[in-house]
Amino acid sequence: MLDPSVNNRPDRFTKGSLAGPRVAWTTAACVVAALLSISVLVHAQARDVERRIDALLAQMTLEEKLGQLQQLDGQADGRYRDEHLELARKGLLGSTLNVRGAAQVNGLQRAAVEGSRLKIPLIFGFDVIHGYRTVFPIPLGEAASWDPASAERSASIAAAEARAAGVHWTFAPMVDIARDARWGRIAEGAGEDPYLGAAFARARVRGFQGDDYSQPDRVVACAKHWVAYGAAEGGRDYNTVDISERTLRTVYFPPFHAAVDAGVGTLMSAFNDLDGVPASANPFTLTQVLRKEWRFDGMVVSDYTSITELINHGLAADDADAGRHALQAGVDMEMVSRSYATHGARLLREQRVSQGAVDEAVRRVLRVKLRAGLFDRPYSDEARERTTIMRPEFRAAARTIAARSMVLLKNDGVLPFAPSVRTIAVIGPLASAPRDMMGNWTGDGRETDVVTVLEGIKAAVPPATTVLHAQGVAIDVKSLMSGGQNAAGLARAGIRQAVQAARRADAVVLVIGETGDMSGEAASRSSLDLPGRQLELAQAIIGAGRPTAVVLVNGRPLTIPWLAEHAAAILEAWFPGTEAGHAVADVIFGKVNPGGKLPVTFPRAAGQEPLYYNHKNTGRPADEKNKYTSKYLDVPWTPLFPFGHGLGYSTFKLTNLRLGATRVSADATIDVSLDVTNTGTRQGDEVVQLYVQDVAASVTRPVQELKGFERVTLQPGETRHVAFKLGTQELGFYDRNMQWVVEPGEFRVRVSNSSLGGLTGSFEVR
Ligand code: NOJ
Repeated sequence: MLDPSVNNRPDRFTKGSLAGPRVAWTTAACVVAALLSISVLVHAQARDVERRIDALLAQMTLEEKLGQLQQLDGQADGRYRDEHLELARKGLLGSTLNVRGAAQVNGLQRAAVEGSRLKIPLIFGFDVIHGYRTVFPIPLGEAASWDPASAERSASIAAAEARAAGVHWTFAPMVDIARDARWGRIAEGAGEDPYLGAAFARARVRGFQGDDYSQPDRVVACAKHWVAYGAAEGGRDYNTVDISERTLRTVYFPPFHAAVDAGVGTLMSAFNDLDGVPASANPFTLTQVLRKEWRFDGMVVSDYTSITELINHGLAADDADAGRHALQAGVDMEMVSRSYATHGARLLREQRVSQGAVDEAVRRVLRVKLRAGLFDRPYSDEARERTTIMRPEFRAAARTIAARSMVLLKNDGVLPFAPSVRTIAVIGPLASAPRDMMGNWTGDGRETDVVTVLEGIKAAVPPATTVLHAQGVAIDVKSLMSGGQNAAGLARAGIRQAVQAARRADAVVLVIGETGDMSGEAASRSSLDLPGRQLELAQAIIGAGRPTAVVLVNGRPLTIPWLAEHAAAILEAWFPGTEAGHAVADVIFGKVNPGGKLPVTFPRAAGQEPLYYNHKNTGRPADEKNKYTSKYLDVPWTPLFPFGHGLGYSTFKLTNLRLGATRVSADATIDVSLDVTNTGTRQGDEVVQLYVQDVAASVTRPVQELKGFERVTLQPGETRHVAFKLGTQELGFYDRNMQWVVEPGEFRVRVSNSSLGGLTGSFEVR
């Protein structure tokens, strides 16, 4: 063990000219000794884990081994099922999902630990995606903060609450790159960019797991969905994916690789077919890349029934065959379907799977359970659960992070509103919609905990202010099929009432967008327009001529060209979580100066999708003056709001772009720096972004790629020097032989506050 007192002995580190070198040597020696002893300890612990696994494997029957590979679903309200008890007592169940609450977990755990022959504890999983009980903004929203530390903090709070409620394992972070906003699950990840995605993947893994996921306030994380699930054709969920290995490695792998490097305990294999081999039976991704190239030694769980779905894919002839494919490819635990448990013994007898593959899968499951400390502390402390859930500081963090995640898309100067405004109208179907503020994955979040936008605004204004409210129109996921147009009469009356409220007000907040269930899993849309009659509502309210701010609540980029042209202000709030209303009010009234930036491109029309900033140039880049170039006849090819875009109540200037060299060798690192100045009158945040282009290479490269960013807070008039480094990681790419190379030639550099504009420079790699 490290001696914690080492750092508390000032007497050993006396200052003075003679003592100087000795001090340095002593310090260095201490550091080396400490590092060595940590490394010795880590290795000893790892050996101990493997020894314990060996001992268990030697005693386990085949049935018990297959039982460890089985995960079954609990009930939606967190209770376990009778069958789980029975299986746990027999040692034939490895894990559950959705069973939660310390008492429920303890009840079932007792059956495994006290009732079963080998006393192997269960591991309890749950989708703690952006909060357990205290709900934070959806992950796409948190990514819009461009502040990984915020995501780390929210994940750590989610972990503390979840672990206190008996949950050991979260099926998060979702690190799928999504370039197509039609895909509903774009809400669950960090957006379209691999670099930003990797930064958030790392942060979330750290937040959930800390340094040691056996701690009572941490959970095992699960990077999902391995892999390329977000590249579903047409943005239709679960659909086929057919992309090149280069795109896979360049775009879709980096956030997973970052998660693995950050020590993520588990991965989840995806639903999709990938270049003809479904991801839940893909030896290339599951074994070659994950195990051999990246040396991942945790466990892989399938997605929900994704193993039996191999039959639908047309890969497996029957359920046994499905189990064989998945197990041999490297899926360790089976979620909900039961092909391993049902057919495993026969598959072994018929030598269709090997004993080695079964044992290896069991080893990985046990390794995660041991690392999670479940053998030593299998039970949850019910008292701790009561004192941990929804602590005031958790709510405070949810408010801060929600406000940090908001993106001011447009502002003609109408925002911030003065809190002393005499009458304010809060209008729209999402103004008083508690459930929808939490988005699609709500964990154990309760709508009774949620602060709506209406409530948040009421709480922020002085008592003398009159707050009016009108819903205007209703929106409903079921009416999407009929274009949301089925209640015309009702809508007209609602819009009339809302306009009356707007006319009586000095300021209007119009809260529109999507309901929580319009994004997330199985929530793809072919249109990205505001659902239902919300555009009509917006046109009528803005037409009423009062200072109006539009607040968007949604899980994906929306096509809002009319609003972009006519609304005075648009604030993208995403699904902000439990503290939605307070956070919106903080930004609307200027208590918080918004500093978020888009982690996804907003198109003008859904037909532009997939639309992303790091596209290739093509042989005929778009040129409005030349017909035979890559564009559309009916809509500009450019985005409505570009990746990286976001305004604030302050203004910033970037100056003094400096490159450390103009010519460097391929293995060198080049410094890039600049100054950023707050030229406005309020304290504010700016996100400085660094983009790079490799101008000519042996495979075509994107027009630009994000390779650095930093969110800075500056006082009015303050200037900050921001520095980045570009090395082989940032300048390289996979060549025709799939080797990572930095090729000689020109590189262009741009620093900016969005993926457009800014300062440019270039250098040459020799
Ligand atoms: C299916 C989803 O694809 C996955 O993200 C989730 O973790 C599991 N269901 C478990 O709820």
